[in-house]
Amino acid sequence: MQRHLVGISQIGAVRCHRLIALARAIRQASALPRLDKSVALAFFEPSTRTRLSFEAAATRLGCRVAAFSSAGSSIEKGETVADTIRTLEAIGFDAIVLRHRASDAAEHAASIAKHATIVNAGDGCHEHPTQALLDALTLLDEFGSLEGKRIAIIGDIRHSRVYRSDAALLGMLGAIVGVCAPPLLMPSHLPDGIVQLPDAASAIEWADAAIVLRLQRERMDSGLVPSLSDYRRRYAVRREYLVGSRVRLLHPGPVNPDIELDAVLVESEHSLIQRQVSNGVFIRMAVMIDIFATELVEHFLSH
Ligand code: CP
Repeated sequence: MQRHLVGISQIGAVRCHRLIALARAIRQASALPRLDKSVALAFFEPSTRTRLSFEAAATRLGCRVAAFSSAGSSIEKGETVADTIRTLEAIGFDAIVLRHRASDAAEHAASIAKHATIVNAGDGCHEHPTQALLDALTLLDEFGSLEGKRIAIIGDIRHSRVYRSDAALLGMLGAIVGVCAPPLLMPSHLPDGIVQLPDAASAIEWADAAIVLRLQRERMDSGLVPSLSDYRRRYAVRREYLVGSRVRLLHPGPVNPDIELDAVLVESEHSLIQRQVSNGVFIRMAVMIDIFATELVEHFLSH
């Protein structure tokens, strides 16, 4: 089994199924193991959900956690990712949870780490594997099985690590994935089987669930989106599209209210957004147990 967790495609279907089943078992468990390991949270980009839920997951399992961000660290003096990984290993961390803006950062860190396990918490436009695992768990809770379910991903597909991890994992679980984005925010190549949807209204009509992505302001500033009002007209999920519909809405967060999604939908009966956040802690606990105490996985899965 691969030691690191860099991307969904690297870890494969068997480990993804095992992590989701383990997260479910942990959610029901009356007692948790104490792993007595040390975990560094190395976040070179802002984060609320991912960072805090890794921290909650590790501390609930008795790990020692040190949070590290680029502000105030030697990164500001020019230290590289490679130097940082070597330094954290030399200090003795058993796992390094890494978020970085470079799309090969997790793979690069994994190639440098000699002992520590690298966990990708989102690297550039590449992957965000634990987000996909928590999205899949949330959808499985809702639908039971994803075989033949239609999941639309709406927004900046081209730059989205969430899209890349979600599309890979949801496809493995039997879902039909659709994408909806303005032409300049669509990748030049889509894998076989992915359905292109022309606008948010059609995507909602087509889908059983929609994962709405955050529109980053820099995409507007760089001219990839004509204007905010044009974007909203075609690609925002509006409350009127959901009247009489049972479509579930997910969003990795943070939401730009009234930009990619009408604010009123965030806490509507369609929304699974808070459940995604709660499930994130169980997925990250599953990742820690899978890394540090593989021998306990069967124990959890058999109860
Ligand atoms: N979903 C997600 O990655 O959110 P954060 O940026 O708050 O961690």
